[in-house]
Amino acid sequence: MKPNSRHFAAEELDASDPLRAAAAEFVLDDCVYLDGNSLGRMPRCVPDRLRQVADAEWGAGLVSSWLQYDWINLPARVGGRIARLVGAGADEVVVGNSTTVNLFNATACALGLTPRRRIVTDEANFPTDLYALDGLQRLLGPGLTIERVPAGDVLRAIDGNTALVLLSHIDYRTATVLDMMRITAETHRAGGLVLWDLSHSAGALPVDLNGCNVDLAVGCTYKYLNGGPGAPAFTFAARRWHEKIRPVVSGWLGHKAPFAFDPVFEPAAGIRRLLSGTPEVLALSALDASLSVFERFDIQALRAKSLQLTGLFIDQLEQRCGKYGFEIVSPRDPVRRGSHVAVAHENGYAIMQALIERRIVGDFRAPNLMRFGFAPLYQRYRDVEVCVSALEEIMRTGVWQAERFRSRAFVT
Ligand SMILES: Cc1ncc(COP(=O)(O)O)c(C=O)c1O
Repeated sequence: MKPNSRHFAAEELDASDPLRAAAAEFVLDDCVYLDGNSLGRMPRCVPDRLRQVADAEWGAGLVSSWLQYDWINLPARVGGRIARLVGAGADEVVVGNSTTVNLFNATACALGLTPRRRIVTDEANFPTDLYALDGLQRLLGPGLTIERVPAGDVLRAIDGNTALVLLSHIDYRTATVLDMMRITAETHRAGGLVLWDLSHSAGALPVDLNGCNVDLAVGCTYKYLNGGPGAPAFTFAARRWHEKIRPVVSGWLGHKAPFAFDPVFEPAAGIRRLLSGTPEVLALSALDASLSVFERFDIQALRAKSLQLTGLFIDQLEQRCGKYGFEIVSPRDPVRRGSHVAVAHENGYAIMQALIERRIVGDFRAPNLMRFGFAPLYQRYRDVEVCVSALEEIMRTGVWQAERFRSRAFVT
């Protein structure tokens, strides 16, 4: 079946999908959920694991569970599971805090590795990345220069004073994938370091941090890694930097001997020095369970399915809704496209609300972008068909103009 034929056979594609067993690992319902790029669906193993943690580990074991159930090593153990999805060594990733805090810490750590004081970033980076840099700027004052440039100008903006290049690997709005290999190499050639935000990459496509010689990376775990709302974020630091990094958000669990209660901070060996406070045991346990699903499926197969889904969606939208003023903002080149499709429309908010009323859930990013996420572990080809048919009906009937779709909610 040619993917771009007008009425593609979704059932055939679903029946021959090599990943179809993966969907059975998730709690599914009749909702066509196209928002795994914001909050992933819940794997079925997670509630069981949370019950076990609540009853046996917390409820009965209490404080002894730090050792008995190895809670104390959860940040590193869960980090090891993420490592294989992002091309890192198991000893190069830890999990804890939010992406925002990890961005701040990793950026400040990078400044400790070089005397340079100039940071280059994408002016359209996710706001929290920019705000973390602003916070650092307020702390360090005019001694720190932050260059916000268009993503396409980043390579030109790197110079011999550049300490760090901080970029999102995949743009949260357009799903554009940046060339990690090239940007990292060019930054290194100029003597700088790189920090990649992998929030829209981890679990969606293969990332090769060590193959690209990346210095530092962070990412959230509640999108394609399905860790649950507010799941803790990860930090990667290349092994070559471990003993040189002096953490800035330094806390007792990053100390080499936390239970010595030493008044002076002495960093732990290796990646553990990037830990700060007490691990988020409940959230880490949920994330640990959800990551076990990935171990049964091949990340290359996930990427292939993700591209087929997003490619089909783009083709079908153009063929069936071409006259309604939708503009595909995501790259058509599959190499440069992440796992969601961004579609601009001046009435995007109301149109998305009309879809959500039909239990087809994407999201909206101001000023005019509808985002449709395709999480390859649990997405079906049928979801593309249902969503495009609903969009066609919503536009043909004009139902999106109803008053109830106009008022903006706080979360979009
Ligand atoms: C690129 C990027 N970075 C960071 C975040 C979120 O950071 P945090 O985990 O601190 O909420 C998001 C959330 O969508 C994101 O898209």
